[in-house]
Order: sequence, then C-alpha cells, then structure tokens
Amino acid sequence: MEPTVPDDDLIRIAVELACRAPSVHNTQPWRLRYDCGVLDLCADPGRRLAATDPAGRQLVVSCGAALHHLSTALTALGWLTDIRRHPDRANPNYLAQIRFHHGTRGPQPHDFDLLTAIRLRYSDRRPFDPVDPNLPLAASLKDLVRQYGVRLTILPRSARPTLATATELTGAARRFDTAYQSELYWWAGHSLPEDGIPLEALATADNQAQVDIGRRFPTGSDSSSILHPDQATVVVLSTNGDDRGAWLRAGEALSHVLLEATATGHATCPLTHMTEFAQSRSLIGSLLPDSGVPQALIRIGSANEKDSPRQTPRRPIESVLTIAPRRS
Ligand SMILES: Cc1cc2nc3c(=O)[nH]c(=O)nc-3n(C[C@H](O)[C@H](O)[C@H](O)COP(=O)(O)O)c2cc1C
Repeated sequence: MEPTVPDDDLIRIAVELACRAPSVHNTQPWRLRYDCGVLDLCADPGRRLAATDPAGRQLVVSCGAALHHLSTALTALGWLTDIRRHPDRANPNYLAQIRFHHGTRGPQPHDFDLLTAIRLRYSDRRPFDPVDPNLPLAASLKDLVRQYGVRLTILPRSARPTLATATELTGAARRFDTAYQSELYWWAGHSLPEDGIPLEALATADNQAQVDIGRRFPTGSDSSSILHPDQATVVVLSTNGDDRGAWLRAGEALSHVLLEATATGHATCPLTHMTEFAQSRSLIGSLLPDSGVPQALIRIGSANEKDSPRQTPRRPIESVLTIAPRRS
C-alpha cells in the first residue's frame, strides 16, 4: 500500500534541497519541524539582519523562497503539498503548515528540470549578456507568478537610469551607516563554513563597475573581468499588500522565477537593496504600471557557465530540521 505521509528520510532529502534556496546575505533564516506527517516552516528571528532588514521583509521573502524550493523538490519526489500560510496569527514567525498527498499523475519531466535547477542555480553578480533569444525564457513568467498573488513587470531598457539612481540613493544613505556596513561585512566577503557569501561568489571591482544596479558588496573574486556593461533584463516582483503574507508569496514567486530561468539556461541575480529602503522602493514603484509594492528585482541574462562563481555554503540539515519522535 502507498504510504499516506512521506517518511523521515524523504523529508530530510526535500529539506536539504529546500535549503539550497536563496536568502538575503545567505542567512538561511528558517526552521522546519516534521511531526506526524505535518511539516511546519518557521522564520528564525535570530537570523534577521537587524540593520538591513528591521521589519523582517527579506527574512520572510527568503523563507518564501525556501517554501517554494521545498514544494518543488517534493513534487519531483512524488508528493504534492497542501500549504496553509500563516496558520497561527498569534505567532507571526509560524509561516506555513505543509501537508502531503499523492497526485493523480506522477512527476512530469518539467518537475525534474526544476529539481535539477535547484542544484544548478546560484546568484551571479557579474555583468550579463542579453537574454539569449534562442532560449525559451519561460514565455509566461508573468502568468507563473500570478498563482502567488504576485505581479511580474519586465522593465524596459529606458528604466535603467532610474534603477541606477535608486542604487545610488541607497548606497549614499548607507555609506556611513555603520550598523548596516558591519552587518554586510560580517556576512559577505570571507568564507564562513555554513552561511554568508564567500569572496568567490562576489564580483571583482571591474565586474562591479559594469553592473550599475547591484548592491555594493565587498569586492570579490568571482571570475575574470567581463569588460562590458550589464545587459540583463530586469524584472520586478510586486504585490498589492505589504505585510508578511505578501512577503512570503513574493519569496515563493522569486524562487519560481529563478528556477524557471535557470532551467532555461539563464543566469540570475536577485536585487533587494532598492526594495528594502523606503525611498528607493517608492522610486521603483513609480516604474510599475499599477500601484503595486515592489518586493524584489531580478537580473536575468546570459553568462559564461564555465567560469561561474562559487556556490555558497549551507547550514547542516540538523541545524534547521527537527523530526519529532514517532508516537506509537
Ligand atoms: C530576499 C533576498 C534578497 C537578496 N538580495 C540580494 C541583493 O540585494 N543583491 C545580491 O547580489 N543578491 C541578493 N540576494 C541573493 C543572496 O545573496 C543569495 O541568495 C545568497 O547569498 C545565497 O547564494 P546563492 O543564491 O548563490 O545560492 C538575495 C536573496 C534573497 C532571497
């Protein structure tokens, strides 16, 4: 007889894949608990970036990305998920309760493409070549994110100066913000064994200079210099509301777009320095055709895979997943 709930080993595999999700500064601010066939996802407030992210926006967006990675992995492993978001209003860190069932059909080939993309994806901070017109960039990225209540806007090339201005604005406001800068240098620019962003995943000074809309990270050593300005397509994910529910769904949509783009051979990098700062967030909002709240931007383009930056580390599964002993 088919099992009615996934066994502990399968949950371990799925959670390990979920933890490959992107997170702000690679903080991996999530915790999971599996008990009697129910998996709970909670934000770990101890991993919030107090100076960069006082409201916890990036914390929850990161958890949303892990939630989408989790359900993508489980689908390919033969389990569909029923997700209850924010099951306990009294506990804002309790983000999702996940139950499982089998679908009428098994996993489809595209489910395995997305599973492979979980392993292949990384944030690439180098300048990109344009999106390859011969690669089918999931034509319907806009439709894809609608299921999360999120809108995707592909910005025209003419919006680039506004993005550069928003980047300058956040850079100038934070240049002498010692709390922000110490957080940035704590998490990025040296090798921590389990989290943070190593030098080899950050752009060299030459590469940073070609991406006028990137977060100002410590100078890295990601690859040999690419001496042309970034030609990425930039998309904005926006929501109607601006609460934890909207942030969680924005994170799910972010993950879905990143995995689809990776599966179709594209390079990607999330950008949130412009959305975590109120003034630049409203500047980005002015680029949208509606009155949505911008939650994250993504650069999408083509890049040399042979010379790709190093993948970032992850925390061991025992640090993020608790499995309750079975009750007999
Ligand atoms: C909510 C969120 C915000 C992020 N903001 C930025 C950003 O502003 N700039 C950037 O270069 N990367 C950003 N990233 C990418 C993370 O730095 C990256 O996911 C993390 O270091 C793990 O590395 P990986 O994506 O290569 O696995 C963000 C990711 C998430 C989920």
